[in-house]
Amino acid sequence: MCNAETVEHGPELSVIVPCYNEHGNIKLLYHALLKALIGIDWEVIYVDDNSPDDTMHHVWELSQKDRRVRGLMRFDRRGLSSAVIEGVLSSSAPYIAVIDGDLQHDETKLSEMLDSVKQRHCDIVVGSRHIEGGQATGLANRWRHFLSNKGIWLAQRVMPKPIKDPMSGFFLFKREIFIQQLPKLSGKGFKILLDLLMACPAETKIKEIPFQFRSRNFGKSKLDLQVMIQFIGMLLQKLTKNQFPLAFLSSLGMVICGVLINFLCFKLGLRVKFTPMVSQFIGALGTSYLGTIIYTHKCGLHQKKFKKLSFYALCLVGVYFNTKLTLYLFQSGLSFNQGSLIGAGLGMIWFEWLIAYFGSIR
Ligand code: GDD
Ligand code: MN
Repeated sequence: MCNAETVEHGPELSVIVPCYNEHGNIKLLYHALLKALIGIDWEVIYVDDNSPDDTMHHVWELSQKDRRVRGLMRFDRRGLSSAVIEGVLSSSAPYIAVIDGDLQHDETKLSEMLDSVKQRHCDIVVGSRHIEGGQATGLANRWRHFLSNKGIWLAQRVMPKPIKDPMSGFFLFKREIFIQQLPKLSGKGFKILLDLLMACPAETKIKEIPFQFRSRNFGKSKLDLQVMIQFIGMLLQKLTKNQFPLAFLSSLGMVICGVLINFLCFKLGLRVKFTPMVSQFIGALGTSYLGTIIYTHKCGLHQKKFKKLSFYALCLVGVYFNTKLTLYLFQSGLSFNQGSLIGAGLGMIWFEWLIAYFGSIR
């Protein structure tokens, strides 16, 4: 039984940890936080999107032993940014930190970050890999370095007050700053910090402190083609002052990528002397295959056999009609290129409908 005297006060710092398929990292991060946050009243909220590897089970085990640990499990939904937003909304401290669940961010910097905001040096403090003392060597490979650098360059072009590492996923801020900007956040993709910084008024004080981005020991990155497209879409949405919402831009981006991949396979097929029909069939099949790899998890299909099979079957229907239509267009006098592009375009619209539909049914 609790009475007024024994009720504890709330935490000073809430640590939000988005996680997906991180079962091997949950406890390691908790123990790292225990060490790093000595002297601070804190809570940690792991936000998991019903990971197939049972990540949440490990969180619940911890929360049975330590009431500072909480788990927020989302069902049939995916996304790092939206996971962070919901984690923040379910937290209770006046100061909030966001840190990845895979130990790539340096939790020992948290108390310094908290001090900066508490002593009013800034409203948001960003863990930065690109100021003196910081390092990005933990990025998996050259391709990730290239993407990260280009992404930073692009983001800096559209930000009113650019910072050195707008792509960081490691930051700490005052609760009210986040809540005030909530309606303006897109909540899509990975770049929640950039989303927040672009929403904040000019007078918001931002500070960067260096940290060394570690390499991953367990599991793998979830950054994929769709996340990259969402990033470009988010920048475009901000640049056009929300005239073109992200949902529209990311569908458009997917259609354009799909058509290009289909067309490229078609051209390659012709080059190795396949017939135009076979080439278009291979292009359509390849595009659908890539699409299903990306979307099987995103639409929550991996847990539902019948739904998954129906999705695959309907993808094949799309491949069939794409090829049939292209053949018809060739026969009606259109050039190979025109026929292939139109067939691929309609094939992608079909595919977009499928993912929207399967994503929406439970
Ligand atoms: N709940 C949830 N849902 N969590 C997710 C999802 C999702 O759909 N996707 C990724 N996460 C979690 C991961 O489990 C991990 O804890 C964290 O978000 C970062 O995801 P990674 O897949 O490890 O991303 P990364 O290492 O390639 O990139 C990260 O670090 C960069 C440098 O700071 C991200 O934070 C990038 O935004 C950041 O630029
Ligand atoms: Mn990572």
